[in-house]
Amino acid sequence: MRTSVVKKGDEFLRYEIREIVEVAKKIEALGVPMTYENIGDPIAKGERVPDWMKETVARACYVDSTYAYAPTKGLESARKFVLERFSDSSVCTPEDVIFFNGLGEAINKIFSNLPNNARVIGPNPVYPSHATAEAMHHGGKAITYSLDPKNGWEPDLIELENKIRYHEGIVGILVVNPNNPTGAVHKRETLEKIIAMAKEYDCFVIFDEIYQNVVFPGKTVIRLCDIVGDVPGIAMKGISKEIPWPGSRCGWIEVYNADKDSEFKAYVNTILVSKMLEVASATLPQAVMAEVLSHPKYPTHFAARVDKYRKRAETGVRILSESKYLKVPSPDGVFYLTAVFENAEDEETGTKLKTNDTRVRSFVDSFPLEKFRMDKRFAYELMASEGICVVPLSGFECPLDGFRMTLLEEDGAKFEETCKKIVRATNAFFEPFPKVLEKIPHAANLTSMDEVV
Ligand SMILES: Cc1ncc(COP(=O)(O)O)c(C=O)c1O
Repeated sequence: MRTSVVKKGDEFLRYEIREIVEVAKKIEALGVPMTYENIGDPIAKGERVPDWMKETVARACYVDSTYAYAPTKGLESARKFVLERFSDSSVCTPEDVIFFNGLGEAINKIFSNLPNNARVIGPNPVYPSHATAEAMHHGGKAITYSLDPKNGWEPDLIELENKIRYHEGIVGILVVNPNNPTGAVHKRETLEKIIAMAKEYDCFVIFDEIYQNVVFPGKTVIRLCDIVGDVPGIAMKGISKEIPWPGSRCGWIEVYNADKDSEFKAYVNTILVSKMLEVASATLPQAVMAEVLSHPKYPTHFAARVDKYRKRAETGVRILSESKYLKVPSPDGVFYLTAVFENAEDEETGTKLKTNDTRVRSFVDSFPLEKFRMDKRFAYELMASEGICVVPLSGFECPLDGFRMTLLEEDGAKFEETCKKIVRATNAFFEPFPKVLEKIPHAANLTSMDEVV
């Protein structure tokens, strides 16, 4: 090409949650039945949409206005409703709400409308769309602060403050609460310190609160609107996880304190104008969400879902913790379980696992495994040996190795079985290979567990 058509930073354009499925599908085509534990889509995992909900949506389909464009910010009725239901109308008005085609779109617009040198520091691990959008807008690696699995995945505030202090480009702090992938609900005290930091260093805050209600009994989510004070902020919310209707592609942002900072106000306006260029977001989910969420059957339906995730979390933590190679902090909510590898000697650790078919082995070996992080090699071995697809933790911009699985499995017995298989694969992956080989004649000629078993 006369001039490069590849944007700087394209190597950071990754979305492991879906990319790994391409590999899983090919392994499945070679005859390994696959259990997909990678994506946070309850419907894809078999959760039934209740008839009353389908009927509500169907009725809306008979109303002509649901076929029209919505205003750019979204239907006024929907903006009023979300403030009442999910927020605090003393902190923000319907004019400060903007709907998007899923929060995924909002994430993209929030980062791509910042100047390249204006950086947003986000947690690690983090939902990859945030890290990728930050990296792409800047043309380099995303900038992050650590969440500590030994401290309930709370943010390392010292690291966060040091990075903000010494990196003048940082103008925004991202918090994902409740957190994907860890399932942690952050403490009020932690969040208040982050707000205080934003104020001290003249930054704005972004709180992704898409899971704000998907929390287990006894856990309270402190929302940005509860503590924001006069700091400029954006809260991100949606119905993908809540109703759950991820296919509706419906999320929104709530902008707080735009009037308190003219630069922040101008930035929010660029987000709005870039939305305007696309006209508006889908009308139907906005038109119908109030009726669905206010339906008399909704509270019991939602409570049953959350209770199922809680039970799965208990089972998952119990079974996975049986492996000395896995650290599995109990989640406070959300529908994921994140395990961190422990007791591995180094990044090179990890044995190839037994596969039933040499074609599967050859397929996995066709990847440059030696260049992969340990957890990605594990994820590939797990698919090949046990037919389970999880997402390596490195796919969440995380320096720790491990994996994320979902808590969405409908069948409790199958979920237990999946966890047991993961434990079996983990132990086999980390058992020191040479010790096994010591007992086998001509061991020096063997290159993988395939040949051992
Ligand atoms: C933390 C978080 N934010 C945003 C999204 C995007 O949600 P959607 O685009 O479906 O609204 C997801 C989806 O999994 C998520 O986990």
